[in-house]
Amino acid sequence: MMKMKKLFLAALTLVLMFTLAACGNSEKTEGSSSGGGAENDGIQEVTIKISHVVAENTPKHQGALKMKEVIEEESGGKIKVQVYPNSSLFGDKDEYQNLVADNVQFILPDMSKLVGNDPGFNIPAMPFLFESDEAANAFWDGEKGKEIFKRLEKDGVLGQAMWPNGAKHMTNDKKPIAKPEDLKGMKIRTQGGQLLEALYDELGAGSASIPFGELYTALQQGTVDGQENTFSNIESKKFDEVQKYMTIMGHTRVDYALLTNTKFWDSLNEETKTVVQKGIDEGTKLARESAKQLNDDALAKLKKNGQVEIHELSEEEVEAFKKALAPVYNEYADIIGKDIIEDAESK
Ligand code: LMR
Repeated sequence: MMKMKKLFLAALTLVLMFTLAACGNSEKTEGSSSGGGAENDGIQEVTIKISHVVAENTPKHQGALKMKEVIEEESGGKIKVQVYPNSSLFGDKDEYQNLVADNVQFILPDMSKLVGNDPGFNIPAMPFLFESDEAANAFWDGEKGKEIFKRLEKDGVLGQAMWPNGAKHMTNDKKPIAKPEDLKGMKIRTQGGQLLEALYDELGAGSASIPFGELYTALQQGTVDGQENTFSNIESKKFDEVQKYMTIMGHTRVDYALLTNTKFWDSLNEETKTVVQKGIDEGTKLARESAKQLNDDALAKLKKNGQVEIHELSEEEVEAFKKALAPVYNEYADIIGKDIIEDAESK
């Protein structure tokens, strides 16, 4: 009788152990209580960091927030996304190496900051090349644009999408700019790269590359006289507080490369990749849809603030800048590659 009891107890213990183990497993694979379920089986529990340098009321930040919303929702909370604006995690100088080291999983640099990696990223700085966001989008979605992104793979970096911000305009605190000669003797901050340096050189101005996070102070302290940027960057960073003049030029652009690293990407299984890819696609869509509106709103606010005197170049004045910058355009068309430029011009 005693023996039977012992056997029964041993069997009961085994059954209990199996039941507990099964419960533990199902917790791991079924996702968290925030909407998880059988459809989230197989999605990995990961934390994704997205870092960028601009303010919150910009297409880049809005797109990043959309990525967060979609990825967290679609993964039933298994994937957590942390978005760091305003260079609060990494700035212009260190974000790329930290992406390569997988200390951050997505960054969105202005392409002008990638020209040291490949001359193709000079495209947004080519004077008056694209007439609209749509033309720029079409180029980067096309074969030549993808080819340029692919060249980053040597660093273990994957170009996922292009997000536009828009045309750049010039601000300064010295005088109104309406013609190329007006820039003579000024010192202008650029995002970096030899093309932008050559552009100001051609106009008789000096230039200095300064990280975006340090730009307000540089303008305030007079380290540089002016800078070029989109309306949404100018307004959201309050550059009009420290600049007197703004010229609506649209001579160059801010376009972003949404980059991830292969170490992170290759660590994801197919289910997880599908969810993250959906976040990328939705974020890209929202950033592209909101860029123009955010720039229009920012221009309206800058006008309302009344802190900068605004001059919009006439068609003749634009032509004068095009003519003055033609040598730089031609030189860099050769450096970037004629086939690439012809493709961009056709958009
Ligand atoms: C800048 O550095 O001026 C901008 O391109 C920043 C950004 O990412 O929009």
